[in-house]
Amino acid sequence: MDETRPAIPSPLVGDGLAVPCVDGQQRPYLNLDSAASANALPAVARRVQEFLPWYSSVHRGAGYKSRLATNAYEEARLAALRFAGRPADGDDIAVIVRNTTEAVNHLAYRLPLAPDDVVVTTVVEHHAMLLPWGRRCQRRFVECGSDGTFSTDDVVAALEASPRPKLLAITGASNVTGWLPPLDAILAAAHERGIPVMVDAAQLAPHRPLPPAADYIAWSGHKMYAPFGAGILIGPRATFAEGDPFLAGGGAVDLVDLDEVAWTDPPEREEAGSPNVIGAVALDTAFAEFDRIGWKAIIEHDDALVSSLRSGLAAISGVRLLGPKPPPGGVSHEEVTLPLATFTLDGLHHALVAARLSAEYGIGVRHGCFCAHPYLLRLLDLSPEEVADYRAAVLRHDRREMPGAVRASAGLSTSTDDIDRFLAAVAEIAGGRPAPVAYVQDPSTGDFWPEGTAPGWTADDRSLGASCARG
Ligand SMILES: Cc1ncc(COP(=O)(O)O)c(C=O)c1O
Repeated sequence: MDETRPAIPSPLVGDGLAVPCVDGQQRPYLNLDSAASANALPAVARRVQEFLPWYSSVHRGAGYKSRLATNAYEEARLAALRFAGRPADGDDIAVIVRNTTEAVNHLAYRLPLAPDDVVVTTVVEHHAMLLPWGRRCQRRFVECGSDGTFSTDDVVAALEASPRPKLLAITGASNVTGWLPPLDAILAAAHERGIPVMVDAAQLAPHRPLPPAADYIAWSGHKMYAPFGAGILIGPRATFAEGDPFLAGGGAVDLVDLDEVAWTDPPEREEAGSPNVIGAVALDTAFAEFDRIGWKAIIEHDDALVSSLRSGLAAISGVRLLGPKPPPGGVSHEEVTLPLATFTLDGLHHALVAARLSAEYGIGVRHGCFCAHPYLLRLLDLSPEEVADYRAAVLRHDRREMPGAVRASAGLSTSTDDIDRFLAAVAEIAGGRPAPVAYVQDPSTGDFWPEGTAPGWTADDRSLGASCARG
């Protein structure tokens, strides 16, 4: 390890803020939900603050501040290419989008796909990666086993089936199990067969270097400590050089008449509308911070957390961990998952566990299906009858029996003490510690709410509900 590199920055902006609990006490908030959205790095917040006085229009102003803002925006674009292991002057371009969801939709629109064409994807995907292809063409799915994984051979079988796929669309890391598919081998297998690959790096980007071999790659700033509304889509310039852009409007054109438009060159062709320069500047700073910290330190930090998190949870009676199990002889580096764990507790509704962790312990986790319904159903091993029952209920807007699990996800500033605090809370709940107040379930969201009177948890405070119900 390069000893000259500084350690993981801690705390992040907002770490340790006191939050009210149902017993009337305040506790330091423990955010174990970085896989959903991560707090800003201090350097990101500082840079945004410093930049704000210089904020101005991008690509649309002759003033000094516009030139400066445009420069900052274009610097961020180059930094995104570097972060993804691409040369600034190569064939690839970086399009600055809102987030991964927009990036996948953008690409699905831009690729020349016909209704009978096939995109191979997997049942492990987030809805952002599952759904956009289905609107353009046919999808062929790589199935997973009961541990939520598949092999390179499984992917190869789908790639070799007929008709020949136009694309492989695959996640770099699962947001549910933290599983890291064997991406290098999969990329090589697809490329040997001449099939381009789109990698969803929403979860990968904050934890591992991005695969330079991916033809297309997308990720979100808010999951890598730059929560200012920018994300990235990278792909070959040629993909975006012809045809209509995803969004039509100002900034994307060379010439317009009432019955004519000449689109400009990419990447601007793909970025109609005023660019999000604050988001771009924030992302640029996050890239620099990742570079400063170094992947070695980040991965060591992650690996230390994931082993205490997963082995600690597995040791609690009643906990069922979802996803790959560590092999008996211990794990090798390749078998390590991202620092997150998704689990169920025997006899307790996932939404109740998450509500109790929040209201009684000040710990923020996510519960539900994590925008990956098909994957969760497989991991939970639900019977067709159970699936039919809950589907019928949800379609009646009754989410009380929505299946799901609880996910704890760690980030750059999570410590092993934080993991211990979380494990102690789960052990108490699993061990039957009575809830200090009754909890009621909202049928329309499936969420539980403590019937307390403490500030922050009264009936009036329910308006703060941040339901996990929608996937
Ligand atoms: C694996 C994965 N892909 C895609 C997304 C979508 O990201 P966003 O909500 O930033 O568009 C997420 C978000 O949780 C994710 O975890």
